[in-house]
Formats: sequence, structure tokens, C-alpha cells
Amino acid sequence: MSKITVHNQQRHKISKYLYGQFSEHLGRCIYEGLWVGEDSDIPNVNGIRSDVVQALKEIKVPVLRWPGGCFADEYHWRDGIGPREDRKKIVNTNWGGVVENNHFGTHEFFELCRQLNTEAYINGNVGSGTVQEMSEWVEYMTFNGISPMADLRAKNGHPDPWHVKFFGVGNESWGCGGNMRPEYYSDLYRRYQTFVRNYNGAEPIYKIASGPNIDDYNWMDVLMKNAAPLMDGISLHHYALASEWEDKRPALGFPEKEWFSLIKSAQKMDELVTKHSAIMDKYDPDKRVGLIVDEWGSWLAVEPGTNPGFLYQQNTIRDAMIAAITLHIFQDHADRVQMANIAQMVNVLQAMILTDGAKMVKTPTYYVFKMFLDHQDAETMVTDQQLAATTSVSVSKKDGEYLVSLCNYGLDAADDLQVDFDEAITAVTGEVLSGQVMDQHNDFDQPDAVAPEKLQNVQLSGQSVTATIPAMSVVTLHVKTSK
Ligand code: AHR
Repeated sequence: MSKITVHNQQRHKISKYLYGQFSEHLGRCIYEGLWVGEDSDIPNVNGIRSDVVQALKEIKVPVLRWPGGCFADEYHWRDGIGPREDRKKIVNTNWGGVVENNHFGTHEFFELCRQLNTEAYINGNVGSGTVQEMSEWVEYMTFNGISPMADLRAKNGHPDPWHVKFFGVGNESWGCGGNMRPEYYSDLYRRYQTFVRNYNGAEPIYKIASGPNIDDYNWMDVLMKNAAPLMDGISLHHYALASEWEDKRPALGFPEKEWFSLIKSAQKMDELVTKHSAIMDKYDPDKRVGLIVDEWGSWLAVEPGTNPGFLYQQNTIRDAMIAAITLHIFQDHADRVQMANIAQMVNVLQAMILTDGAKMVKTPTYYVFKMFLDHQDAETMVTDQQLAATTSVSVSKKDGEYLVSLCNYGLDAADDLQVDFDEAITAVTGEVLSGQVMDQHNDFDQPDAVAPEKLQNVQLSGQSVTATIPAMSVVTLHVKTSK
């Protein structure tokens, strides 16, 4: 039994950017998942596959991070411009040692953003790139006028500048981005970000420093102490694991204990955000600098028979629990967490979409993002909560309508829910995404095994709503007020 009292009192705004995505040159995320090329038999617009774009448009992706990840610190942007047949073929050293033909580069990325109607989050190369290279990329993308890089962009077919809203200065600089120490990286950050010029004075680029690995609180402290005034955001990466990092567990056919161990690992996000925020508060009490969780999600074993470097994993109702629980945590901390990007958009880790040739399926995670759409840019509300041990909740309000999202990650028992409001309620509707078995998932033969359905047992009585939240389910209640 869970009882929630919702007060008509705002806490803080939930940035729509908490619902951001990440697409890296890794496995089949970019190539096959998003980019098929103009000559492909798979229906596409300017080389980008239309079925995937259509599905992603339905979840209103607010921001897309690219080109990595670890790939970003080996990416040299000039390799990915100009006639495609002339582009350099390189080795993707981080991800499977495969050939990267650079057919998807800067122009193709902004075409994808245009089709998705999403903001660009570009991650620059500090690990193996120069300050000049980074600076010229920014000039190439954003300068509006006569300059060497703007002229080159025009020569390559795009006279107008693009809009770069977010820019990451390196990725995982403590690891694949250069194995640096925080003292050294914070100086490099200060230097590199100086040359990320704001050519569009009306909307300066939001600059993001490479932040800590999981619970490396020293990294956060050193970075904030040395560079906070020069950053708009600092990143944090945390992946949910069902066991140790070295012992990735399967996405399908797992035992009960791994249902709970994966969920527990995802719940650690709350502790990480709380503790990192406390350090940030020391240097930035006004919470100007955003905590940017630009990689999160479940990291499981690759599907049998697939390239271990491609990180292709199935996605089940357990991933839906991970998504709901983690998004609730971000919403609870939305005064500090200004953006989050699930890893990754297609065919990699906890993906929205899986593809196989011309076929495509939407994952349970995709449906959580869809069910939570109205949280984007809403206000979180003050609540009193007495929750069942396996229930997680978040309540927001936008345009006079509440969205109550819940997740019951218990395996057997349904949760009888009562939500009381302190204002008049005129109508309520509910949706549920649930599984009968722990690894229920969608695949190419059964693409709709997990999909949202109408929640049948929702009742409105005065200012109270009651409903039953099934085991292994994510539920949303849309509650209308008279305003
Ligand atoms: O998302 C996969 C990888 O995880 C990214 O490339 C890297 O930043 C992180 O370690």
C-alpha cells in the first residue's frame, strides 16, 4: 500500500534536457542504427533511416550528445567533412577495432538533429586533439561571417552556421580520455574552454567539463575548486551493473537476485548525485553549474554471438524499471541536475531502439520515455509519501495537469495506491507498462510483447485517486485540475 499527498506547491523545474540521449560511433548505433546512407534500400532521408527518426520524434528527444564517449577523444573532425568517398578510413580503437569510414560526420550529425528537432551536444577532443583543432571545429560549426572555417563549411554545402547548445571539453578524462589526474585536467579544461568561442553572443555555448567517474569525489572537488567559474556544467557517469564491472551479466534469462542487484546499482545514482551536489554546493551555492549525467543506464553482457566491442544488449521490463527509477532520481534533484543522456540511443547498451537490417523494435525503455513525456519542462511538486518498499514515484505539474509516475519493481505483489490532492480534480487517466516475466522484451518476431496499455482500475473520488500498480510495472497517471 502506498499513500501520497500532493501539495499544489512547486519544488523546482524539471529541465526537458533530463530526457537527453547519447549516440556514439560505437557498434551499430550510428552506422545501421541511424545512418544507412542515401543509396540504402532502407527508407531514408539524406542517409538517415526514416523509421528510427519517426520513432524518436514521438519521444521528443530534447538533446543529442555526439560523437562519444571514448570515441570523442580520438575523433578528428576534419576526417568527417567533404565528399564522403574521399574521407579518411580510420580504426575505431575503442570499439571493436573496426573500420570507421567517417561517412557520418559534422554535416550528417546536424542533419540528424534537424530531422529530430533536437539540440546538439558536441563532445570535443582533449585527449588526442589540439586546442587549435577544437577551436576551429567550433568556428566551423557556429561562425556566421567570413572566416577560414566558415568558408570551408560553405564550400562543403552549408553556408549557414548551426546551433551548438552544449559543448563537452573532453570525455572521461580520468580514463579513456587521457588517464589524467584532476589537477592536470582542470588546467587543461581552463585552457581548452578559453578557445571554445561564443560566436553567437545571444546564446553562449554551455560548456561542460569532464567530471568524475562514479564516486570519485576528489575529482569533483578539484575540478570545482580550480575551474567552476569557467564551466556551465560538469559531467558524471554511472552505469547500473548486475554484478562486478569485470563480470557483466546477461540481459535475458537472469536469476531473481540479478533483477534486484541491477536495480540496487541504479538506485546508487541517488547517493552519487546527493554527494556530488554537496561538493558542488561548497563552490557554487547558487547552483549555477549543472550536474550533467551524460552517460547512464544498464550495462549488461553483449548478446551471444555479437561483437563484444559493440555493446549490443537486449532490453527488458527490468530496463524499464531502471529508466523509471533513475529518471525519478534526476527529477528529485532537478535543482542541480540540468541534463542527462541515457546511453545510448540505438543498438548500444540501454537503447531506445534496436534494429536488424530493415527491421526495428521499440524497447521497454523507449516506452518509459514516452510515458514520461509530460514531465519535460514541468515543475516537481511537494509531496508527502508513505511508499511500499518496492515503489518509486515522481509528481510534476504542467499547464494545470499533474503527471504522477510510479514504478513497482516488486516481483509478485501489486501495490494499492492512493493519491490525495489539495485541489479539485476533474479527470484521471492511467497507462501501464508491465511484464509477466522478469526478462519480458520486444524482439523482431514479437515487437509488441511489452507496450503501454490503459490502466483499468483507476478511480477518482473527490480529491483522491486510487489505482493498483501491478508488480514489475511502470504506471503513469494524468490528473486534470479545473485550471
Ligand atoms: O557508453 C559507452 C562508453 O562508456 C563511453 O564511450 C564512455 O564514455 C564510457 O566509459
